[in-house]
Amino acid sequence: MADDLCFFSKESLINRSPKKSPLVLRMLVLMFAMVCGIYICAVCLKQIGSQSVGHSFSVQVVGKPCEPADIEPSEKPYVHLPKPKTFSRDECACNPVRYFAILSTQRSGSGWFETLLNSHMNISSNGEIFSVKVRRSNISMIVETLDKIYNLDWLTSASKNECTAAVGLKWMLNQGLMQHHEEILEYFKTKGVSAIFLFRRNLLRRMVSILANSYDQNAKPLNGTHKSHVHSPHEAEILARYKPTINTTLLLPNLQQVDDLVTKSLQYFKSSRHIILYYEDIIKNRTKLVEVQEFLKVPQRDLQSRQVKIHKGPLSSQIANWEDVKKTLTGTQYENFLQEDYKL
Ligand SMILES: *[C@@H]1O[C@H](CO)[C@@H](O)[C@H](O)[C@H]1NC(C)=O
Ligand SMILES: *[C@@H]1O[C@H](CO)[C@@H](O)[C@H](O)[C@H]1NC(C)=O
Ligand SMILES: *[C@@H]1O[C@H](CO)[C@@H](O)[C@H](O)[C@H]1NC(C)=O
Ligand SMILES: *[C@@H]1O[C@H](CO)[C@@H](O)[C@H](O)[C@H]1NC(C)=O
Ligand SMILES: *[C@@H]1O[C@H](CO)[C@@H](O)[C@H](O)[C@H]1NC(C)=O
Repeated sequence: MADDLCFFSKESLINRSPKKSPLVLRMLVLMFAMVCGIYICAVCLKQIGSQSVGHSFSVQVVGKPCEPADIEPSEKPYVHLPKPKTFSRDECACNPVRYFAILSTQRSGSGWFETLLNSHMNISSNGEIFSVKVRRSNISMIVETLDKIYNLDWLTSASKNECTAAVGLKWMLNQGLMQHHEEILEYFKTKGVSAIFLFRRNLLRRMVSILANSYDQNAKPLNGTHKSHVHSPHEAEILARYKPTINTTLLLPNLQQVDDLVTKSLQYFKSSRHIILYYEDIIKNRTKLVEVQEFLKVPQRDLQSRQVKIHKGPLSSQIANWEDVKKTLTGTQYENFLQEDYKL
């Protein structure tokens, strides 16, 4: 019996083992599949849980990076996708943004030019940010300020926020720009900032504007308020009534000084991507503004400003000692400033 049993069991072992072992294997595979299934489910649930807890935005950004279409390789350094800390760019998160800086001198029409730019729905020019001394006290303060502006985190009345396609500021040459020109040029090149030079051809007219503006600062003929820029022909007429007397001893050295400053600034920043504009050219022919919009790569719009020009008409009627001024400049390189250079 024992043999029998043994045989039986042996036989059954021999006979059934090929049938029994697949069953065990199947059970093992099934168990393994179940454990795997439970594990995958657990991991999935964990991920969904953590996503809904607040990582969904970053997961989405990592998963679907913005790929701005049709941008030439040479343009790449000038195209940015800033992620502002203070707000979300929403539907315009993948619209490229370009950085610019208007480099100019006082009384050269840069205020007027800036209102023209800001009338474009996709341009934000944030004004004379560096007129505040502490912001230009050293290069690290300048860089910090620029970083904030170009990251769209500088909030002014000019900020268009999420759909801005070009962001910048107005920067006067005497506001730390010449002093720190090496570091600033480096910043412009590494960050891909485009420079818009805006100057005035007629430096004598500019001088009249400066003298009148500083007279206005003290006399305040407009009901006791000082206005650098005006919005009505009436106000412009009142301001233009004042005729400055120009010190003829200082005239030539002053013109030379401004001329040199402009030349030097062009030299310092000529290796950055730039465009050179003259106030007189924009006044004469508004199609210059088409060029500017092409330079900034924004959609073409008709740009408008509400500002009114203060000084019109011939220079001879705007300077008290016109004859002396004429005598001083005749025969010099600045003689052409005496001629009328544009009509309105
Ligand atoms: C830069 O200027 C700021 C403000 O005047 C000052 O707090 C900071 O210490 C200065 N940094 C350097 C590196 O000089
Ligand atoms: C300009 O702004 C409009 C409206 O805010 C937006 O729809 C458009 O995409 C922007 N254009 C560019 C080039 O960013
Ligand atoms: C000064 O104020 C008066 C009264 O408010 C106004 O009628 C006049 O037009 C103002 N003048 C100027 C130059 O703004
Ligand atoms: C012109 O400026 C010079 C130098 O500042 C001064 O000596 C001279 O008196 C001024 N002339 C007039 C007419 O104001
Ligand atoms: C303005 O300039 C453009 C080219 O920049 C020229 O084609 C056009 O004729 C000019 N218009 C006037 C009125 O001068």
